[in-house]
Amino acid sequence: ADDGYRLWLKYDKSAQPQKYVSVSRKIVNNFGPSEVIQTAEKELLNGLNGMLGKDNSSPNSKNILFEKNPAIANQGFKIELLSNKISIQASEPNGILYGVFAFLRQIQQEENLHSKTSIPKIQLRMLNHWDNVLGTIERGYAGSSLWKWYELPETIDPRYTEYARANASIGINAVAINNVNASARFLTPEYLSKVKALADVFRKYGIKVYLSLNFASPKILGKLKTSDPLDPQVRQWWKDKTKEVYQYMPDFGGFLVKANSEGEPGPQEYGRTHADGANMLAEAISPFGGKVIWRAFVYSPNPNGDRFKEAFNEFKPLDGQFAKNVIVQVKNGPIDFQPREPFHPLFGAMPKTPLGLEFQITQEYLGFSTNLFYQSVLFKETLDADTYSKGKGSTVAKEISMIAGVANTGSDRNWTGHLMSQANWYAFGRLAWDYELSSEKIAQEWTKMSLTKNEKSVQTIENMLMKSRETYVNFTTPLGLHHIMGQSIHWGPEPWLTRSQRPDWTSIYYHRADSLGLGFNRKESGSAALSLYHPEVQKQWADPKTTDLKFLLWFHHVAWNEKLSSGRTLWNELCFRYYTGVEEVRQLQKDWESVKGTVDEEIFNDVKGRLAVQHREASNWRDACLLYFQTFSKMPIPYEAPKRS
Ligand code: GCU
Repeated sequence: ADDGYRLWLKYDKSAQPQKYVSVSRKIVNNFGPSEVIQTAEKELLNGLNGMLGKDNSSPNSKNILFEKNPAIANQGFKIELLSNKISIQASEPNGILYGVFAFLRQIQQEENLHSKTSIPKIQLRMLNHWDNVLGTIERGYAGSSLWKWYELPETIDPRYTEYARANASIGINAVAINNVNASARFLTPEYLSKVKALADVFRKYGIKVYLSLNFASPKILGKLKTSDPLDPQVRQWWKDKTKEVYQYMPDFGGFLVKANSEGEPGPQEYGRTHADGANMLAEAISPFGGKVIWRAFVYSPNPNGDRFKEAFNEFKPLDGQFAKNVIVQVKNGPIDFQPREPFHPLFGAMPKTPLGLEFQITQEYLGFSTNLFYQSVLFKETLDADTYSKGKGSTVAKEISMIAGVANTGSDRNWTGHLMSQANWYAFGRLAWDYELSSEKIAQEWTKMSLTKNEKSVQTIENMLMKSRETYVNFTTPLGLHHIMGQSIHWGPEPWLTRSQRPDWTSIYYHRADSLGLGFNRKESGSAALSLYHPEVQKQWADPKTTDLKFLLWFHHVAWNEKLSSGRTLWNELCFRYYTGVEEVRQLQKDWESVKGTVDEEIFNDVKGRLAVQHREASNWRDACLLYFQTFSKMPIPYEAPKRS
């Protein structure tokens, strides 16, 4: 039985080995010596031996050559099938490793071998782990941290290598090891030696380690009186500390910083700006070639404001003030990883600052580990969104120089809790490499490598994945509703949440339901958040009559009996969507039933169980939200009450 541990790297015996008789097991490294190249060799042999057997008896088989080709930019690769050899070319060792995994993927999917050149579109492709010193994971739903801090650095869990392989196989080349709500302890010798041990494993797979840091470390660890970024002693402290970090890890990637956000310390405590804080660290790290990734996830409590605008208002004026080695990391949407958000208005608005895009792969607001939610569709929606910053076609994808995903991995045997969430890790990497890939293509790849090659089942599972995002939106936050989840349980409903420590942490702040209607007016007559976008973008969302229904309540307060483009009134459409969402979960259950026998039984049962939980949760969302909103609309629900068994 298969418990999902091997992810998409199963390398089980191929059903069509005859297709690949031309592939020899002899690998010739003409690229040159490198640890990553050794890994590439090992991975290639491991994959080939698994899928095709150890022997290659065909007299005409061709050797596989690793070759240097300076014309292949960055970490890209070229696979060339020639009459006398199979050549994998790159200008950097990582490129050879990625070429190897791409070559193996062809066999894994039983494709005919073909030549292929592929250059990553985004250079820095990173996972952010929100892992804590005590082994818990903030918003992690797949067990505890993979990093066994207590056992490190002496004991190296083989799973670190498995983790690194999985990342390398999809082109991820950086990981931030610890939570952005960072403990200063990670910068102590005690923890640095542990982090170094991980870095030593990841290096072999071309992965650089980053650390999230606590901005108050000079006070906490250095016992200084201040952490003011303009204080000479503080600056010196960071320089010394950074030097120390590089003594442990000469190829250390850099720092990731959450500052002045949700109670985390930062430069504003001293009347300084985000740029002051980031530049201080940038100066300390630049002699070593490292980067500072400064997060833009900030929102000061403002009962009369609109959280939508906070990050924009704080960061846009700083454009041009950040040092060269600073990247500002912006979440995909303006609020917080909701099932659907319009793209963040900072994209395209900071032409002088390299921007990073942050997605959350772990399903904090997307159904925990019990809901099927294929995020590729969500990722693509943001990546493909047009900012119009330099005219039509200025997509978010083109505006960024790095991409980060908050990891969904943990100590569960299948890594991600919900087996199907492995597809989200996979899709994140594939899109980070090439955002032009389609979600359908990625779903097919993943399914064939992870679950089944049965054609009908592949099609069924691809359809399930493709429908799953809209299904989740339908039964949780249809028509542009957002942030109406529970205060503590972020994947359950609490639209009635009226009181919280912060005004912008209630639900009523966002849905604005009243006797007249529903939704957040963000036009000029409301919070004017819409005006943060380029005029061409504003046009799409300015008029409720022409706003895509997906985004309607993000920008408009709409009357309950307003007729929508669907032909239904707002109230009826809302009911329709919530009911449809639950029906769609039923359909997912039926679809899954139809793949029985073509996927591993253990996996089949596990996913089946989670879909049943999802159905229970979906019904709960629907009933909670509709019965609550009904207290404002005072209109009947035009559907039959569900039969409870
Ligand atoms: C969300 C999440 C927090 C996290 C924060 C962040 O608000 O609930 O747990 O710390 O995002 O991205 O910093």
